[in-house]
Amino acid sequence: MKEQLESIQAEALDKIAEADERKQLQDIKVAYLGKKGSLTSVLRGMGKLSKEERPVVGEIANRVRETITAALDEKDEKLEKEEMEEQLEAEAIDISLPGRPVPDGGAHLLTSIVEEIEDLFIGMGFEVREGPEVETDYFNFEALNLPKNHPARDMQDTFYITNELLMRTHTSPVQARTMKANEQNKPVKMICPGKVYRRDTDDATHSHQFTQIEGLYVDTDVRMSDLKGILDKFAKKMFGADREIRLRPSFFPFTEPSVEMDISCKVCNGEGCSVCKQTGWIEILGGGMVHPNVLEMAGYDPEKYSGFAFGMGPERIAMLKYGINDIRQFYLNDKRFLKQYHKA
Ligand code: PHE
Repeated sequence: MKEQLESIQAEALDKIAEADERKQLQDIKVAYLGKKGSLTSVLRGMGKLSKEERPVVGEIANRVRETITAALDEKDEKLEKEEMEEQLEAEAIDISLPGRPVPDGGAHLLTSIVEEIEDLFIGMGFEVREGPEVETDYFNFEALNLPKNHPARDMQDTFYITNELLMRTHTSPVQARTMKANEQNKPVKMICPGKVYRRDTDDATHSHQFTQIEGLYVDTDVRMSDLKGILDKFAKKMFGADREIRLRPSFFPFTEPSVEMDISCKVCNGEGCSVCKQTGWIEILGGGMVHPNVLEMAGYDPEKYSGFAFGMGPERIAMLKYGINDIRQFYLNDKRFLKQYHKA
């Protein structure tokens, strides 16, 4: 029996030494130490032994069990370690590889132009306001001195939603809204950038949706010369200190007098060329002194208050500043175009 035990131990140890997977160790454990294993079945025969032999064989059997268990544990640990190392090696990350470059994003040209203009006016004490794009007929027209059936309503082809609701055709309704909301008639100095909509057929210079920036300054003694001074600063900062401006008489129902502002052509320096259509001047924006009716409807006494307003199209300004010849470029999201204007 003693020999039997010894040979079981030797056999088990051999198999353990040969095993190269942890699952094999499990099988070995079952085959030798399990309920039906060979060690167990030898021990079952112990009843046949004499009293003297029993403790001796029992001790050997215990030692054999311990030896096999220890060998299994040791081998299992070794295989586990090897497995782990293999996995680590297979999943290793080469930290010496250079990273994949993440391309830099940047603001859309239209966004940067609007922000540039905002900064400029904020620097002159203007606040930035917003208004709704779905506007009432009242604020888009009536409050701006354009009563129903006024012929000047034809100037702007409108997307109507209902008889009273429309897509705003300009940012001027924000003038009326801002003044009306200001019940204590405090001075107002604001600009309002935003989207506007017109029933135009898209081409190189027209778009059914584009951007405007409105300006409004109302106080007790605002004059035309204030408008001129501020627009001159704006033009020089935007287009260069050597630009001249000129104001031409014009007409808007909500301003009186009304003007259009031109800047001297940069291409020909005022000599006349194809860009300025031989005039030496390029039209930039419209403006004027807020019409007394508009002040009155918004709750400001026109005898006491005066103001100026202006409206410009940032797309047009960017086109002139950068020589872009098609307004549709702003809305196509062609990355090759947009990338040229990303600031570093
Ligand atoms: N709202 C006018 C337009 O869309 C521009 C403008 C604004 C003119 C403010 C005068 C004063 O053409």
